[in-house]
Amino acid sequence: MHKLFASAFVCIAMAAGGAAVAQPADNPLLPEGPGRDRVVAVCTSCHVSRAFAQVRENANGWKNQVSEMILIGAQVSPADMDAIVGYLSTAFGPGTRLPGPPSQAVDLPDGAAKILVLGSCARCHGLDRVAGAKRSPREWDHIVERMAFYGAPLDEGQRKTVVAYLTEHYAAK
Ligand code: HEC
Ligand code: HEC
Repeated sequence: MHKLFASAFVCIAMAAGGAAVAQPADNPLLPEGPGRDRVVAVCTSCHVSRAFAQVRENANGWKNQVSEMILIGAQVSPADMDAIVGYLSTAFGPGTRLPGPPSQAVDLPDGAAKILVLGSCARCHGLDRVAGAKRSPREWDHIVERMAFYGAPLDEGQRKTVVAYLTEHYAAK
């Protein structure tokens, strides 16, 4: 989260310094789709698209995010609201892949949670993002909880199994 805030503030500073408002061609993170032009016009005036293109939410979640932006000054007409929320929840809904370089193939070690990790953790980013991280049990607990919030389809029992598996194989040294 803090990374997002930092980039938002950097860009506000840049805007204040007179940088031109980004053109659509300058927003490769935003896929084509209805409503894209509204999102570019409204959402990239204070921060770059990277500040929100990594977020994954359903339509309700995006509606809340956009409402928060309105509170801090985003200019969104009622007609734009539907177009913007429609675009964001299609382009960046739960389960849509994160932008970035293609992921590396990963051989997961055998274990109780292997099938859960394969089925739920590769939906939005590569498994290299999972296998490349070395974390303490507490950190894995927080990460998996955050991923479930983003949309990883795991109930509470499955989350515990996944955390135990990740802690066993990808522990911080
Ligand atoms: C008036 C300036 C402004 C506009 C316009 C704006 N934002 Fe933001 N946005 C911010 C600032 C400042 C932050 C960081 C501080 C905060 O979250 O309160 C931020 C942060 C965010 C975050 C990160 C919040 C989090 O919880 O991680 C998201 C997502 C976001 N904006 C989406 C959008 C979208 C979508 C639009 C277009 C509807 C938009 N923003 C338009 C100023 C703006
Ligand atoms: C619905 C989309 C989605 C799913 C499913 C998902 N992730 Fe993520 N993941 C993200 C997003 C978005 C980020 C980048 C933002 C962040 O770190 O909060 C991320 C980042 C990460 C990171 C790097 C963040 C850090 O703090 O190191 C790890 C590790 C990770 N995910 C592991 C997992 C695991 C394990 C699963 C399966 C339980 C999973 N992800 C499933 C969306 C998802």
